[in-house]
Amino acid sequence: METETKTLQEVSSISEMKEVALSFRKKSLTIGFVPTMGCLHEGHLTLVKQSLETCDRTVVSIFVNPVQFGPDEDLSTYPRQLQSDIEKLEAVGVDVLFHPTKEEMYPAGHKTYVQVQDITEHLCGTSRPDLFTGVSTVVLKLFNIIQPHNAYFGEKDWQQLAVIETLIQDLNLDVVLIRVPIVREIDGLAMSSRNRYLSDQERQTALFLSRSLQQARDNIRQGTTSAKVIRNSIRQCLLEKGGVEIDYISICDPKNFKEKEQVCGRTLIALAVKVGTSRLIDNCIIEEF
Ligand code: PAJ
Repeated sequence: METETKTLQEVSSISEMKEVALSFRKKSLTIGFVPTMGCLHEGHLTLVKQSLETCDRTVVSIFVNPVQFGPDEDLSTYPRQLQSDIEKLEAVGVDVLFHPTKEEMYPAGHKTYVQVQDITEHLCGTSRPDLFTGVSTVVLKLFNIIQPHNAYFGEKDWQQLAVIETLIQDLNLDVVLIRVPIVREIDGLAMSSRNRYLSDQERQTALFLSRSLQQARDNIRQGTTSAKVIRNSIRQCLLEKGGVEIDYISICDPKNFKEKEQVCGRTLIALAVKVGTSRLIDNCIIEEF
């Protein structure tokens, strides 16, 4: 790592971003990339810090990607706070912020979408059918523009990570995917840009996501292996307070997302829940035992 004082370079055009990336590559500097939709919190910044520690240059993108939102989803109300994001990125020493407009990324006539099959048909893909095609498309575009050596993604979006891993493998991309564990608030709530939508009461209700996962872990440690029993106890825990609409509770294989009847081998427990108008997700891995 170099020690000079850095200033954040802001880039919004694709051609300029490509030039900047090329200039890094020409100097044999490694590029770490953290794609985000902004409204940055400590979860995002943990990914950023890992990139800063391991790569010569770190590029962060902020782009609220319209093609990954369905028609009834929160695209128009998705939180945006560019100025405070810039301050956060400057404070940690990020080299480049890429924040293109929607027109720059998807000019009129854009017709190409990338679809990862099978693993996108479970969990979030069921209730958000546009999500993963939108994510794969924008991430591939960003990889092509930024040409990163390493790309950092959070395990909070476990299925998204699996989709990007498959995209990299199937399309022979020269990008190393780095997985970063979930960053939580002190009380256990997984950090998310959408948490800021929550009222105080909803914030209390949202705590039951991580609590129900912790309870499931405890049950499994005490010998419960039936997925049905564990799912029911998670459901009860989530519904205890009211004000919660469950999208899914999945007890599945962490690679192909097929539901399990018994918890045996490495297992993913993943939840998606609506609290008020916010759709929140959380997950935990049960290691082989
Ligand atoms: P966004 O929700 O902004 O998240 C950007 C990255 O931060 C993702 O890799 C996500 O998993 C990670 N992240 C968010 N909260 C986290 C937490 N509490 N702990 C650890 N990592 C966390 O995910 C997206 O944006 C978009 O789909 C994107 C990949 C940018 C494509 O548009």
